[in-house]
Amino acid sequence: MLAFIGLTLRAATRATDASEAPATAPWWKHAVVYQIYPRSFKDTNGDGIGDLNGITAKLDYMKSLGIDAIWLNPCYPSPQVDTGYDISDYKSIDPQYGTLADFDRLVSEARKRDIRVLMDLVLLHTSDQHPWFAESRSSRTNPKADWYVWKDGKPNGQPPNNWKSFDDKDDSAWTYDPRRKQYYYHIFRRSQPGLNWRNPEVRKAMFDVARFWLDRGVAGFRLDAMAYLYEDSELRDNPPYPNDNKFDAIAFGKYTWNLPEGHEVMRELRSLVDSYPGDRVLIGETDANSTESLVGMYGKNLDEIQLPMNFGLFWVKLSPQLRQQIAAWDHNAAGGWPLYFFSNHDFPRSYTRLGDGTHNDQIAKVVAALLLTLRGTPIIYYGEEIGMSEASEKSIRDGMVRTGKVVQPPWDNRAGARTPMQWDEGANSGFSEARPWLPIPDSFRTHNVASESSDPDSILNVYRRLLALRRSHPALLQDELIFVNKEDPSVLSYLRKNSDGGPSVLVALNMTDQAHIVSFDLSAQELRNAKAKTLLSTQQGEAAPDLAHISLPPFGLYIAEVQ
Ligand code: NOJ
Repeated sequence: MLAFIGLTLRAATRATDASEAPATAPWWKHAVVYQIYPRSFKDTNGDGIGDLNGITAKLDYMKSLGIDAIWLNPCYPSPQVDTGYDISDYKSIDPQYGTLADFDRLVSEARKRDIRVLMDLVLLHTSDQHPWFAESRSSRTNPKADWYVWKDGKPNGQPPNNWKSFDDKDDSAWTYDPRRKQYYYHIFRRSQPGLNWRNPEVRKAMFDVARFWLDRGVAGFRLDAMAYLYEDSELRDNPPYPNDNKFDAIAFGKYTWNLPEGHEVMRELRSLVDSYPGDRVLIGETDANSTESLVGMYGKNLDEIQLPMNFGLFWVKLSPQLRQQIAAWDHNAAGGWPLYFFSNHDFPRSYTRLGDGTHNDQIAKVVAALLLTLRGTPIIYYGEEIGMSEASEKSIRDGMVRTGKVVQPPWDNRAGARTPMQWDEGANSGFSEARPWLPIPDSFRTHNVASESSDPDSILNVYRRLLALRRSHPALLQDELIFVNKEDPSVLSYLRKNSDGGPSVLVALNMTDQAHIVSFDLSAQELRNAKAKTLLSTQQGEAAPDLAHISLPPFGLYIAEVQ
């Protein structure tokens, strides 16, 4: 039965100042970024592991999807203890994934299709197998002795202080090295020793790394774990954290998180990318415990990270109450451009996390619409566009701490979000001719690129249509986000108002498992007697509907052009 929500329109919220016109804005403000986990995208050499040539082979797929840039998770040489976030050579490609020549070919083939390539830059730590660390740990006097954070233990044989690591096997963030007879600091695993950013040689070496890739044509970086670059110079004990959440206590330690010196590095990195042509961009993995600290990552003068990641908006529940959080991010005090993402390689896939078990496909379409119609830059995680689910296989477990308030068991296995891309219904889902490095979830039979391509109502085709709408409707790229029907407890609705007088776009997302009818009066937005033209709807609807009576099925979505 339809519940009638006869809400008339309230005064709309003006969510932002006028935006730059799409034509003059830097590319990343209207781009859609596609995150690729190279190990799991496409294997072309038959070893069960994805490779760079596989990514190149799928560029036409990405082009047809309509994305503008790809961000590659780390593909540098690595012992793969943290699947690539433990780097042993920053200026090369892991032979498992290919060669530098393959990388150059990927960049140039991508460029031919107007797709930019972003690398993952891990500045915080190296692998313990990196030659720098081998040298550093060999004595207290070698030339790289001070490249990592070393300290004597306490006289009672305890580590230097109370700092904790995210690795749930190691409570302390300090590991004793018997050769040097000292402890080294690592906020992640013991195999990821933390670099000493107070040493100017370290800084120089890492900026050289950034230049190496910028010179090869990368369009920017996703900066890993940026909030942890520096730790207290006196190595003081962290005071108890105000809540008893284990994750928060490690993540937001007073002396180990978000030190002012880290912001200097962000500014310097920003100057570096700005010195290259083509509007290169920094996306930041910016862990933050408050809006203020997150917004601080943009820099006081918008001179640090262009696109900080807001994990607060990642961990949402689908509800119209989201409008407050979205408005706060959209209006952020720095005036920074928002970035949105709902899936990544560290956390459970949105299809499963946000699904209710009954309407998952429909919910995935609502998530797609939200991601691609808000004012900001969206990141799609590979496979999100076909509704890949979180795999429950525990065959490969990942031992990073996942016991915080937001991630409870069974969501403690990062491998579940990293399974091979589901290309078709064939053997190994078309990912590889060999046994894939991770098992493929059974869902590949129904959720794969080939079969969804031929179903007009598939999740994939909803993504395609949304991406096409972004291109055909400038209002979706730069213009204002105005929430409407702000008291509606079930349906999240907003207008992407075109500031040039062209058509605006109205979005209505039913975030419940009940059908609803919504009514819009857009006169407060200078759209009195607005005429609507349906652009995308999850149910058969009229091409020119009556805005006073829009019917939405459970988790239905409705997008219309209005003017
Ligand atoms: C964040 C990355 O996303 C994660 O996968 C990695 O384990 C840590 N940083 C350490 O580099």
